[in-house]
Amino acid sequence: MPVEVQEDKVILKHALGSSAEVYFYGATLTSWKYHEKELLFLSKKSFLNGTKAIRGGIPLVFPQFGKASDSSVATAALPQHGFARISKFEWIGVSVDNESEVSVRFGLNDTQIPENVRKDWPKKFKLIFIVTLNDDTLRTNLIVKNEDKAPFDFQALLHTYYSVPDISKVSIEGFYNVSYVDKVNNFITNVDNDQSIKIDQETDRIYANVPTETIKINLGDESNEVFLLKRINLKDTVVWNPWIDKAKGMSDYDDDEYKQMVCVEPGNVSNYITLNPEESWEGGQIIQYKH
Ligand code: BG6
Repeated sequence: MPVEVQEDKVILKHALGSSAEVYFYGATLTSWKYHEKELLFLSKKSFLNGTKAIRGGIPLVFPQFGKASDSSVATAALPQHGFARISKFEWIGVSVDNESEVSVRFGLNDTQIPENVRKDWPKKFKLIFIVTLNDDTLRTNLIVKNEDKAPFDFQALLHTYYSVPDISKVSIEGFYNVSYVDKVNNFITNVDNDQSIKIDQETDRIYANVPTETIKINLGDESNEVFLLKRINLKDTVVWNPWIDKAKGMSDYDDDEYKQMVCVEPGNVSNYITLNPEESWEGGQIIQYKH
């Protein structure tokens, strides 16, 4: 069977050998394998029982990225990265199942989010998360629908954790001449002057309005393994690695795991998107693994 629905997750299997796993909790995609090779990072200390957001894979950030810095915005009281990643999504079903691709859908509406956060953002909405697997390509799309009587503002981001064999060998191309907010350095704004970036210290950057069509994540100096990332309607991209000290402070992340991952997170986080009643918005990413 190309799609297996289990109690806590759904497993997608492509005819040519790739697979993916998506937990109902957060609709978090925790595994993407190309012929048995795992391409996404999932911490060995991650909770998977629905008591804490999953540490790894592709958690969904909605309707707030981080903690809102402005106390007057409607999402100000929400927890870090909003509530989608801590809500249990419903299974909508399989939408495509043929030789070239398998695609499944998950849904979440305002009645399904935790009570304690619902009062902090009392809007009527619907999210649809679509996961599509091809031989060497993964596509994740998020649809947001406003089912309220008034407009609402939101941010959204696909918090993608890539598995890397050795972080010291990784380089990321696509941010040359793009300005970013450096969260590690007092949120100062900088412009990237490098053709490619290396991760050799704590890195937490919000690249805004990235014009690059394809972001390239090169996995090694000598290897030709690369992720090609295309973003759909997601203008910003966050690059994050907690490095040594931050890693030690995270209860759901092993001290050494910073060497094995990098987050490259397409989103819309440098401002808010306003959605009118009955309107929908869609954003997504297409990641191709080449080797
Ligand atoms: C990144 C943020 O997207 O997520 C970082 O830019 C943050 O500032 C990181 O530390 C992880 O967040 P969390 O809430 O999953 O620990």
